[in-house]
Amino acid sequence: MSLIETKALTKTYGRIQAVRSLDLHIEKGEIFGLLGPNGAGKTTTIGMLCTIIRPTSGSASIAGYDIIKNPADVRRHVGIVFQDPTLDTVLTGHENLELHARLYGVPAAHRENRIREMLQLVDLTDRRNDLTRTYSGGMRRRLELARGLLHRPAALFLDEPTLGLDPQTRERIWDYIKKMAQKEQTTVVLTTHYMEEAERVCDRVGIIDHGQIIALNAPDNLKESMGGDLVIIRAKEPPVQKIKALPYVTEVKLDENTIEITMKDAHLHLAELLSIISDVECVEIRVPTLSDVFIRLTGRDIREDSAEDSGSWIDSVARYRPEGELKR
Ligand SMILES: Nc1ncnc2c1ncn2[C@@H]1O[C@H](COP(=O)(O)OP(=O)(O)OP(=O)(O)O)[C@@H](O)[C@H]1O
Ligand SMILES: [Mg+2]
Repeated sequence: MSLIETKALTKTYGRIQAVRSLDLHIEKGEIFGLLGPNGAGKTTTIGMLCTIIRPTSGSASIAGYDIIKNPADVRRHVGIVFQDPTLDTVLTGHENLELHARLYGVPAAHRENRIREMLQLVDLTDRRNDLTRTYSGGMRRRLELARGLLHRPAALFLDEPTLGLDPQTRERIWDYIKKMAQKEQTTVVLTTHYMEEAERVCDRVGIIDHGQIIALNAPDNLKESMGGDLVIIRAKEPPVQKIKALPYVTEVKLDENTIEITMKDAHLHLAELLSIISDVECVEIRVPTLSDVFIRLTGRDIREDSAEDSGSWIDSVARYRPEGELKR
């Protein structure tokens, strides 16, 4: 039996189908990412699994406990870090953790040890007696992660744990999440808009759109399903049919003067490909990312400014100009 199981889990709000018939199996110790655009149903899914939101139909269990029949047991086995901050800012870091430990019935004999251990894990020991009002955004998030793990939950739910943080802090938060999951053998279910980060952290990701999982696999497998490298060429009137007929080309998309070609082993076939296209202005080659997978599946970008998130588009590409040489 999987640690988290959902069967046709569904939530509707009037006419809005927030989550549609979700079937998920998430294993113990796994880091599972739920990726999707605004309004896809990520927070609703997490809310149902944590027993905060009542499903309209379907069922789910965590560590064998049914979310509808045994909500109290489910709550004891889950930790949650909400999308919006929930720390008590008039309490110190230590007090926030102590309050949580008492609420969750962590035995008095273990309480202090456990708090010390968690503060250490997120590097906040030095700041434990300061009011969290004086913490930076990244420090608050770290304390929330520590709080989510304090009662040793079997599953930790993180809803956008890094939203709004700068790239360096995001990087550190992901490191903490990985470290914690490993050390505590906790199953982590997280949501994020940052595709490239999810790619590095998650064992598997489920891409969710309009309340439905539209793809689910290990990040590498999802990227492989794209069918090869992406070659983007700007040229006047590229011969689309001829390009499509090449045996190593798996997909061709034309948008005005820009043609996007998915092909196997671009580095081997590039010269031949270019020989049939005249007036090439510029060529870019890259290995697909999860963002590309998302665009292929939904026809949309996960967020308008994803170019900034994926690292500069240009940074990660091999750039070729006809008169020059191939450079990485
Ligand atoms: N309490 C509610 N009442 C009515 N509609 C709701 C409610 N909560 C969520 N919804 C709707 O359900 C859908 C899914 O919302 P949800 O918050 O789960 O999305 P999300 O994937 O978490 O989005 P985001 O990335 O913006 O956090 C949206 O269309 C939203 O408007
Ligand atoms: Mg949300």
